[in-house]
Amino acid sequence: MLRFDSLDSQGQLDTGDQPAGMAPPRTQSLVERPAWKALEQHYREIQPLHLRQLFADDPKRGERFTAEAAGIYLDYSKNRVTRETLELLVRLAEECGLCGRIDAMFRGEQINFTEKRPALHIALRAPKGERIVVEGIDVVPQVHAVLDHMAAFADQIRSGVWRGHTGKRIRVIINIGIGGSDLGPVMAFEALRAYSLRSMDFRFVSNVDGTDFNEATRDVDPEETLFIICSKTFTTTETLANACAAREWMLRKLDDTKAVRKHFVAVSTNAEEVSNFGIDTANMFEFWDWVGGRYSMDSAVGLSTMIAIGPENFQSMLAGFYEMDQHFRTAPFQENVPVIMALLAIWYNNFFNAHTIAVLPYEQYLKRFPAYLQQLTMESNGKHVTMDGIPVDYQTSPIVWGEPGTNGQHSFYQLIHQGTRLIPCDFIGFCQTSQPLGNHHDLLMANLFAQTEALAFGKTEEEVRSEGVPDWLCPHRAFEGNRPTNTLLAERLTPYTLGALVALYEHSVFTQGTIWNIDSFDQWGVELGKALSRQIIAELENTDGQLNHDSSTNALIRRYRGCRL
Ligand code: F6P
Repeated sequence: MLRFDSLDSQGQLDTGDQPAGMAPPRTQSLVERPAWKALEQHYREIQPLHLRQLFADDPKRGERFTAEAAGIYLDYSKNRVTRETLELLVRLAEECGLCGRIDAMFRGEQINFTEKRPALHIALRAPKGERIVVEGIDVVPQVHAVLDHMAAFADQIRSGVWRGHTGKRIRVIINIGIGGSDLGPVMAFEALRAYSLRSMDFRFVSNVDGTDFNEATRDVDPEETLFIICSKTFTTTETLANACAAREWMLRKLDDTKAVRKHFVAVSTNAEEVSNFGIDTANMFEFWDWVGGRYSMDSAVGLSTMIAIGPENFQSMLAGFYEMDQHFRTAPFQENVPVIMALLAIWYNNFFNAHTIAVLPYEQYLKRFPAYLQQLTMESNGKHVTMDGIPVDYQTSPIVWGEPGTNGQHSFYQLIHQGTRLIPCDFIGFCQTSQPLGNHHDLLMANLFAQTEALAFGKTEEEVRSEGVPDWLCPHRAFEGNRPTNTLLAERLTPYTLGALVALYEHSVFTQGTIWNIDSFDQWGVELGKALSRQIIAELENTDGQLNHDSSTNALIRRYRGCRL
């Protein structure tokens, strides 16, 4: 297998109490690397080139600029790149030590440098018998023990063996969690709804806004409801507030604290806090601090998913993840789907100065996929300093956004086609639908193909004029084109495909972070707001207390105090 082994030889960190195995502090800034400099020069040559020209020059471009893994076909031909661009981007990845970083991740080294942990989500889908050792312990048997625990529980719920406190069958599952303990489960449930047990109802509460909880519970019977309290830390304010509200809501009807045992389970790394809350730790589904929240949907955090789709389908989802993991680990960079997508993201973000990426699934079941990717991408790569704590002198994560097609076409696509900003897009589509209806699926996919064609090639003023459009209107009706897109095409949205798709984006995010030399697995940027909110909660409760914020915050708090119910 061809690998690019001309690695950065800086190896491992050996200073102070910094963990072994992390990416080394780079002596050379990214922007000083030879490949970066070459890309800057190359950008000046490529920038004026139009996709029309690139396609005209190479009639087979649409077949050549493609790659495939785990049932996902990537067409990246409609990007503003040549073979040389790809070669230079691959060289950049090599100079940044991507090969070594991938190996470090798979070996369980502490690549989450600032939190001194491995980032080992790949262990969550490792098949039985594979060995991944963390601090001398093979974690794969632990992963499978939890999967077995989840499967036994899911089967009990699905078959009605597990009953509520009053003997009624559980019909409603409410997952309470936020961030990675919510977005993954919601996205996966929505994506795989067609595979779900339709006799059950799955709901998700995340926001610390009474509306979220009240609306989720207003029409359900506590006797038939099971809450999954999902929190890695079990200290997250929003989740604990909602979990307490759930317990009160349940006890108002059932009036017996023993009911908690039958109606609450937990997913967490924190057995002590789970037990303090009153949940029997026998009903706790464990995961580990080496699983980041936004990388956890295939861990016990996916308990609601497993109950919905059943253990076999969950296994099939894990198989999709695994297949993509193996591809990422072993495929040459030029054929490596996550690496190619990451390099293209870097190309537009850092050379074309594009600020955002739109993710556009032509599959209604993927309606929450853009929201899921927002946390995965922006919490991972929205960083301002390098691994060695030096401010970056280049842009890091793009803003990710999107909506399912075709809805977006009647909303924001105008800007993508004719606006002044460059917005690279990922289009995601499937050859088969699980919800056939007349010729809907052909219509849907025709729109996907049409959009990528229109974005790439546009329509010149000449072409518009030749259709009889008056001169004054031609500039308004013309399309510049040259808007880059990726198309991801798979046979059908199955649990397996979903696993492969999520792993593809996980690895793309990691690859981008490696090139930017940032820690893609910490999230210190969420802490300041959390700490301030704790202080302000106290100030809202004690209305006489002095306020020592800035004049704006003080005035807003006073106004709120005077106005609230
Ligand atoms: O505040 C951000 C964050 O830590 C996310 O990274 C995480 O997914 C979310 O909060 C929820 O955390 P927990 O699962 O510990 O409740």
